[in-house]
Amino acid sequence: MNKKILVFGANGMLGAYLSKHFTEKGYEVVKTDMFDNEDNNIVGKDITNEKELKVFVYEQNPDFVINCAAYTNVNEAESKPELANTVNAKAPQYMAEISKELQIPFIHISTNEVFGDGAYDEDSREFNPLNNYAKSKRKGEEYIEETGGINYIFRTSWLFGPGAKNFIKFVTDTEATEEKPLTIVKDELGCPTYVGYLTEKIEGAVESKIEPGIYHVCSSDYISRYEFALEILKAQGIEKPIIPVEKNDLPPRPVISPSNQLINTKFEQAPTTHEMLVEYVSEIKKEGEEYSEQNR
Ligand SMILES: NC(=O)c1ccc[n+]([C@@H]2O[C@H](COP(=O)([O-])OP(=O)(O)OC[C@H]3O[C@@H](n4cnc5c(N)ncnc54)[C@H](OP(=O)(O)O)[C@@H]3O)[C@@H](O)[C@H]2O)c1
Repeated sequence: MNKKILVFGANGMLGAYLSKHFTEKGYEVVKTDMFDNEDNNIVGKDITNEKELKVFVYEQNPDFVINCAAYTNVNEAESKPELANTVNAKAPQYMAEISKELQIPFIHISTNEVFGDGAYDEDSREFNPLNNYAKSKRKGEEYIEETGGINYIFRTSWLFGPGAKNFIKFVTDTEATEEKPLTIVKDELGCPTYVGYLTEKIEGAVESKIEPGIYHVCSSDYISRYEFALEILKAQGIEKPIIPVEKNDLPPRPVISPSNQLINTKFEQAPTTHEMLVEYVSEIKKEGEEYSEQNR
């Protein structure tokens, strides 16, 4: 019989990709997000409602729970720390508790932002979340660890994928001229990650190929936002004027984000950002072709 996976946040960037992937692989995927979406078979569930969440998981009785839901508006989290905490910390705790009760594995996604500047492997405990979003994500990890059970925590960074408003869209869609070039910071660094690569690693957990624990999933290179932007344009064959600037050259941002690298010591060497972007571009091209085929 096919394994049943319950996905929270199935309408988000990672959740939508992952749900489609597992459905295509033949898994039975139950999709939930904040709001009902009949076209996409998504059941509306507010994960901050403990009772409703636990009853739903209990009734569905899945083989796995995967949490891709999160409060990801980093700027807004500065003025709404309680909401960020309820969604990013308390809700994962409820999921870990009910998963433990049902003796099923729980897969949770966390972030490089639980650390400050530097390089950190999976065993590092030098946490230094610099903003409210990051603090709430670290709290979520803590609550899951305290709850116990069969838990997988995948930390990732600078996630990109189809259909979302993200850095790729910004770099690709923003108009730039020689007089008004695109300006991108060169002193913020990170490891971009394609949702397809993260999904492949999560699949390893679903297929019991890896032990419960903490995993770091991101590209193998550590690059600046400016270098990432150049790679994004190159991968799509787009030419546009773009110049590197320093953070201090731009108006101050409401949040501080770290420059850090997630070191992976558990998987084979990850692809580079360039390799991940090539895969992303070929996938969106394929999707575009399928879409025009269907709407011909
Ligand atoms: N994006 C990145 O660069 C990045 C980097 C590192 C780690 N991560 C982590 O990776 C995971 C996936 O990120 P993502 O970028 O795919 O996130 P996303 O696109 O923002 O998706 C999150 C989903 O969660 C839903 N959600 C929010 N509050 C909810 C609630 N109370 N009840 C039910 N659903 C709720 C959102 O719905 P609404 O849109 O309606 O609010 C959205 O569909 C998250 O855990 C994130 O922290 C992301």
